[in-house]
Amino acid sequence: MNHFWQQLKKPFFVLAPMADVTDIVFRNFVLRYSRPDVLYTEFVACKMLLAPKNRKLLMRYLQYSPSERPIVAQLFGSEPDDFFACARLLREWGFDGMDINMGCPNRRVERRGAGAHLMRDPQRAQAIIQAAKEGLGDLPLAVKTRLGYHVIETESWIGAVLAAKPDVLVVHGRTRQEMSEVPAHWDEIAVAATMAHDVGVLCVGNGDVDSREQGEEYAQRFGVDGIMIGRGVFGNPWVFATQAERSESEKLLALARFITQFTGFWQTAKREGLLKKHFNAYIEDSPGSKTLRMELMTTASAAAALETLARYFHQHGWIFPEIFYERIMSA
Ligand SMILES: Cc1cc2nc3c(=O)[nH]c(=O)nc-3n(C[C@H](O)[C@H](O)[C@H](O)COP(=O)(O)O)c2cc1C
Repeated sequence: MNHFWQQLKKPFFVLAPMADVTDIVFRNFVLRYSRPDVLYTEFVACKMLLAPKNRKLLMRYLQYSPSERPIVAQLFGSEPDDFFACARLLREWGFDGMDINMGCPNRRVERRGAGAHLMRDPQRAQAIIQAAKEGLGDLPLAVKTRLGYHVIETESWIGAVLAAKPDVLVVHGRTRQEMSEVPAHWDEIAVAATMAHDVGVLCVGNGDVDSREQGEEYAQRFGVDGIMIGRGVFGNPWVFATQAERSESEKLLALARFITQFTGFWQTAKREGLLKKHFNAYIEDSPGSKTLRMELMTTASAAAALETLARYFHQHGWIFPEIFYERIMSA
């Protein structure tokens, strides 16, 4: 079957799914600065998607714009039938592919038998892959997983995933137990890549990559077809482009733009707390930045954060564009 993943020039780059981060605003914000080859939505529960009363809210999480193609929706769940039904829906909604989360260590996800929990039930994982493939028809299926649950079990666990023949294997190079607390085991990702290639499956490596250059080198060294970048995009929406020095004002302007776009889309104070995840990453160590960091982290609203940035720009004699002031005034 000829699908979009196969047509990408190697090594290709993928923006990782990140819950409460990679929504339509964030993805378009990144696209303004650099271009990953594939974008992912943040994950959504199959069960929620299949309950009509939740669908309206969830559609906001699954919303995408044409400029984001190819766009892959990531789902989590534990029932093969749910994946079949959701795959049908994703086709209807025009997604370019689907990804099944088999690596999330969040307790609420695992308690439902989903995410990383599936590593403890390979037969169920295989049944899910099979059902999703049937629902997807000719759309490609990716599985994003880790190297094992308690310990590295590349041969058995990755072997079980590959036996069910997804089109793409995405390997986050750590075990469930390791969370994100140790360096990713790229030597094991290399083993998984060889296993995938032996059965004609593409392999994407993931873990600790924070520049295009590093990704290109890793792809070559560890034999993967593509590289997925997650945390490396925080404070660095340029990460998918060739590295270049960014000035302090350039970075802070990017942050101001993000805050403006985020509030413009969500229009609810409830989600503004999520912005704080981003502040730190945009602030460099420079004279005065300690105060800026402290002030931003204690602001109560997006408009207050923009005001703080405006003051900082003013103090440095930098121009703070009109459009950001408009947001402050309209808050
Ligand atoms: C805030 C945050 C949210 C995440 N949410 C998801 C998710 O929804 N689905 C998923 O498969 N992985 C999720 N991850 C894991 C990342 O996709 C990625 O596998 C992990 O961060 C390792 O890659 P990195 O070292 O490039 O960050 C999340 C990670 C972070 C930091």
